[in-house]
Amino acid sequence: MGHHNFQSYRVWDLPTRVFHWLNVICVIGLIAVGTAILWAGTLGVTNDGKILLKTIHVYFGYVFAVNLLIRLIWAFMGNRYARWSSILPFGKDYGKNLKTYIAAEKSCNPEYYLGHNPKGRLAVAALFLVLLTMACSGLVLAGTDIYYPPFGAMIQEWIAATGVNPAEVAPYIKDNVDAAAYKEMRALRSPFITTHYWTFFILLGLVIIHIGAVIYTEIKAGGSLISAMFTGKKLLPREPEDK
Ligand code: HEM
Repeated sequence: MGHHNFQSYRVWDLPTRVFHWLNVICVIGLIAVGTAILWAGTLGVTNDGKILLKTIHVYFGYVFAVNLLIRLIWAFMGNRYARWSSILPFGKDYGKNLKTYIAAEKSCNPEYYLGHNPKGRLAVAALFLVLLTMACSGLVLAGTDIYYPPFGAMIQEWIAATGVNPAEVAPYIKDNVDAAAYKEMRALRSPFITTHYWTFFILLGLVIIHIGAVIYTEIKAGGSLISAMFTGKKLLPREPEDK
């Protein structure tokens, strides 16, 4: 690439950057412990071991869910590039911009964007949707599996056998629960664990695409995509499309 005068632009505000890296840490933790839960049977983990794994997973899950909630709220009040109007893959000129962006990329004369480029918007919107699905399904499972908030106490109340103090209902203990109510609760749980399980694999795929796309764009178009998520500043060799 010939000699370019790189210009520095302030793009990612601090809450967006903190969200990004805290989310990375949480997702790595959740994937690692989640995979151990998935293989718990194969690994011969005891019930106490499973409870410990799920508890660790749920604590990561709480940080993950709160971090995500703050980010979703911040999309209504952050700087221009943190907002929904810069994330969601629709709106005025979106379709046209996507076409010209792909054409420019193909002609090796890439366009530059300060915020998410039109292709990036598709990936980021899909990631937010999948992260939200994992958070919501996970919070229900925290209640059905280890009776943790926000729904744990309500579920203990629901399944405790007559005369049993609901607070004594514990994971993997079935002699103090009402069998019919327990069966109903597991039926309610089933779509949430199925969603959590399959969305996990979609998330893995999106994470690989996200990292691959960032590395590809960094190499192909130059600039400073990765460091910008630390410093907040993007260095661009040319006038951006969304200045
Ligand atoms: C990126 C986010 C997340 C990932 C990648 C993830 C991944 C996983 C995986 C792979 C499993 C094993 C699934 C199975 O056994 O079929 C699992 C189970 C579970 N997850 Fe998550 N999870 C995430 C978020 C959460 C959150 C936010 C919570 C709650 C606050 C949560 C609570 C649970 C619980 C209680 C289980 C046990 C369900 C079972 O018996 O398998 N997860 N998760």
